[in-house]
Amino acid sequence: MFPGAKMYIVTSPSLVTACDRRAKTVSFAPYVVASAKRILAAGEKSVCLLSEDLLEDKGPVTLRPETMKVMQQFLRPGESLDHMMKTMLKSSVGFLDTHLARGAEVTVPLFSWVRRFVGITSTNVAYGSEQNPMKDPSVSDDFWKVDKEFAFLGLNIVPDIIAPAANRGRKRFFAAFKEYYATGSIKNAAPFIHERYGVNTKHGVSDEDIAHFDLGVCTALLVNTVPAVWWVLYHVFSDPSLLHKVRRGIEDVAFDHLKSPTAQERGLSTTTISIQHVIKDFPLLESLIKEVLRVHSNSMSARYILQDTIVTDEDGTVYLLKKDSLLAMPSGPVHANRVAWGQDAETFDPSRFLGSSQRNSTNRSPASSYRAFGGGNALCPGRHFAMNEMMSILVIMTLRYNITHLRGKWRMPKTRNHVSMSVQTPAEDLQVRITARDRAKFLAWEFIW
Ligand code: HEM
Repeated sequence: MFPGAKMYIVTSPSLVTACDRRAKTVSFAPYVVASAKRILAAGEKSVCLLSEDLLEDKGPVTLRPETMKVMQQFLRPGESLDHMMKTMLKSSVGFLDTHLARGAEVTVPLFSWVRRFVGITSTNVAYGSEQNPMKDPSVSDDFWKVDKEFAFLGLNIVPDIIAPAANRGRKRFFAAFKEYYATGSIKNAAPFIHERYGVNTKHGVSDEDIAHFDLGVCTALLVNTVPAVWWVLYHVFSDPSLLHKVRRGIEDVAFDHLKSPTAQERGLSTTTISIQHVIKDFPLLESLIKEVLRVHSNSMSARYILQDTIVTDEDGTVYLLKKDSLLAMPSGPVHANRVAWGQDAETFDPSRFLGSSQRNSTNRSPASSYRAFGGGNALCPGRHFAMNEMMSILVIMTLRYNITHLRGKWRMPKTRNHVSMSVQTPAEDLQVRITARDRAKFLAWEFIW
């Protein structure tokens, strides 16, 4: 996005932390502006508004920092996130009941299936299940065409010639979202979409450009959650002992909860699963998903140096980062660092993030060496929703379904990195069969938040 600029690559965990502490000048903001211009094709006025006060001296009052402030506020744990999770559960169960009616089974390419499942579920949460434009398969296809040619669009040179499918796709995507606002459909959207809309209109951004910005919202919502859910399902369903452990753990705490006085007072039925309780009382779920993200993370934490900046490594070495250079802090080397993660840093260990009393090893797992959601000012504001969503999908899928590889044996696919994504994608899709579990087939499951 910034041709010709010099680039620093930072892989030492302590230097990464030092750069995060200088987030004002080691900044993510120029990338936000560049992608608004190149990928989202926002108009000149909106790009100017986003470019204001890159150093954020004025606080969260200009368009970019104020938008981030409301994203953080409305995506953190609390009422708004709870509301999103309720929609998420309703929408995902609705999808599964439609596509896997009782007793039915499907044979599908797993990645494409997850893309459709998570694609509809996550965007229903954001835009409301009634008028969500991404429910239309053609709009969703257009979105993924844009993502496929993300790098070419980023060059911003005759996009209709070098990335014609993506360029046509984004025009149709923008039209669908413009229609969404024109018909007042936002009334059913999640609070964070309402708040973003409010900030944008306050600063004078047109509905046309707000629709362009939604391409960025859908990118944030989907491009990492889709491969992450794929890896979670892959790791759990390809390993019978892990699958057994996960199922047993979920069932134990879910059914235990049903015996509690609050559950009895509410008259919950024997197949009502309170996901919040499962997450709280069965910490392996969270640990497993964090580990999936640690092992398959491909985050770059790309930054632009706005002013000459000095950073110091833990051994006292001082580095001068020159103004107008680029800097990247790839998560791969940090996540493979043996000092931080122990000798088994390269092994997938679902219990790694449990307290050391529940793990065989005493290795530390320091927060500053965990980069799956980036860090500093650009730390992913959607991380709470993403974690909750992934854990919920894991609970629902393991309780209700079996996923088997069509050829009988699961094999770890080769991976590839994609420019828009912070999670690796499988280089090839796997053909799987999804069937309702015998004991789950005729039960009326209810998943509540
Ligand atoms: C597994 C799922 C997800 C992963 C792995 C992930 C990861 C990341 C990473 C690595 C960054 C860049 C941080 C940096 O540069 O240091 C980021 C930024 C961001 N993420 Fe996520 N993310 C996920 C899901 C979500 C969701 C569901 C949302 C929205 C609801 C979201 C919204 C954002 C936004 C708005 C930013 C830009 C922050 C800024 O401009 O400062 N993400 N995410």
